[in-house]
Amino acid sequence: MKKRKKRISSVKTDASAEKVERWLKGAGASFARSRSSIIPMLQSAQAALGYLSPEAMAGIARHLRVPTALVQGVASFYAQFRFQPAGKHKVTVCRGTACHVRGSGRLLDDLTLALKVTPGRTTPDGVFTLETVACFGSCALAPVLVVDGKVYGRQTPAIAKKTLNRVRRSGGAAAAHGGRP
Ligand code: FES
Repeated sequence: MKKRKKRISSVKTDASAEKVERWLKGAGASFARSRSSIIPMLQSAQAALGYLSPEAMAGIARHLRVPTALVQGVASFYAQFRFQPAGKHKVTVCRGTACHVRGSGRLLDDLTLALKVTPGRTTPDGVFTLETVACFGSCALAPVLVVDGKVYGRQTPAIAKKTLNRVRRSGGAAAAHGGRP
């Protein structure tokens, strides 16, 4: 599992306190009050609420009777967790071994610069959320870029940027034909 350190910003949330409370009284209440429940609870909250708001992490801490800082610290360590609402399009760069040796590091660096966001973040216009994955299971097509679940194989930074431009213009990955599959 890809790990990282990142800062949790206090962005304005739309996962309202009521939604968080509803989740805490429903699915959240089923988790054992143990530190080993932190990651499963974070995953469950993100699946239900779309992302981890400060209210959600405080609620998890309350349920588990641990400091909120501990829950935030655990969440910030893993690339799988998001602290902002997801953008309209999810852009995932594979960081698995096959993709890595074929240039996914440069691909990610270039997309980070082009979109002006780091992995786990959403562009200010709310169009793209950039993410990474350990292996997408399409290693023969490395390096792989996935946009809204559609796989684009053998990507270079230039091809990937064209693909994203097409997605932005067309409003959906299905209408874009990028890459060299
Ligand atoms: S390593 Fe990228 S798809 Fe497997």
